[in-house]
Amino acid sequence: MSSIDSQKPIALFDSGLGGLTVLAELRRRLPNEQFIYLGDTARTPYGSKSRDTIRRYSLECAHFLTKHDIKLLVVACNTASSFALDIVQQQCTVPVIGTIEPAARAACSVSSGGRIGIIATEATVQSNVFRNTMEKMRPGAFFYSKECPLLVPFVEQGIVTGPLIEQVIEMYLASLKSLSIDTLVLGCTHYPMLQVALQNFFGASVTLIDCASTTADEVKEYLLQQHLTREKSVSSTNQKSYLQKPGDLFFVTDSGLRFKHLAAQFLEDPVVEVLNIESFEKGL
Ligand code: DGL
Repeated sequence: MSSIDSQKPIALFDSGLGGLTVLAELRRRLPNEQFIYLGDTARTPYGSKSRDTIRRYSLECAHFLTKHDIKLLVVACNTASSFALDIVQQQCTVPVIGTIEPAARAACSVSSGGRIGIIATEATVQSNVFRNTMEKMRPGAFFYSKECPLLVPFVEQGIVTGPLIEQVIEMYLASLKSLSIDTLVLGCTHYPMLQVALQNFFGASVTLIDCASTTADEVKEYLLQQHLTREKSVSSTNQKSYLQKPGDLFFVTDSGLRFKHLAAQFLEDPVVEVLNIESFEKGL
């Protein structure tokens, strides 16, 4: 890739709002970049779908985004990363980064006693991808996985604190808490939005691994290594200035208004415009 490519946007997709946690962390680390976000809100959640369906949806999202002349694609969804990272990487001509490896690596390196919990969607837990990845990175450690299917709909409704979500967390995670884990992987990009509630439930002795932060770290490192960060330019007055950064673009497959309203809770900057893609089949 050339220096012209470094000016291109970075795209990311998720089944809905979850990938916004990745976007927020990317914006913090890479403020000069332009991002294109796709939330497949019409078909969320992915976590209860079959492998074939998750692969098909993920490919459709990837194909839509790669039409935008991007320099990098981030699969900002653990469910899609678990089942479809390989096929998305094979079919895309741009580099593709997923969420699993960065979170797995962070968990294996910070865990003090090698007792690692993983919470994720049903599909991600069933895929065993986290466990298999971490077993190679930290042989001899103990891994405990728990699927939490109701957490995604709660986040999609904007319910991230309060008695209702606390009850759901207790229902799913009391058994995991009793196993004296020292590290917990938030293996779904929706879950960083529940970080406060989860840390309160597990207490300070458990280190939470936020897959949004670990993915954003990986993206930044990759861009730096490849000299692909969006760079400063020298203006005609010979003073250094930043190239005008185009605004981020947001696409959803269901109501843009609803997404805009909920996104405001999770992103520091407001989402100005959300474009609705009615159907991938129309080739929009
Ligand atoms: N945020 C996604 C993940 O990381 C998807 C959740 C879902 O759609 O079930 O797994």
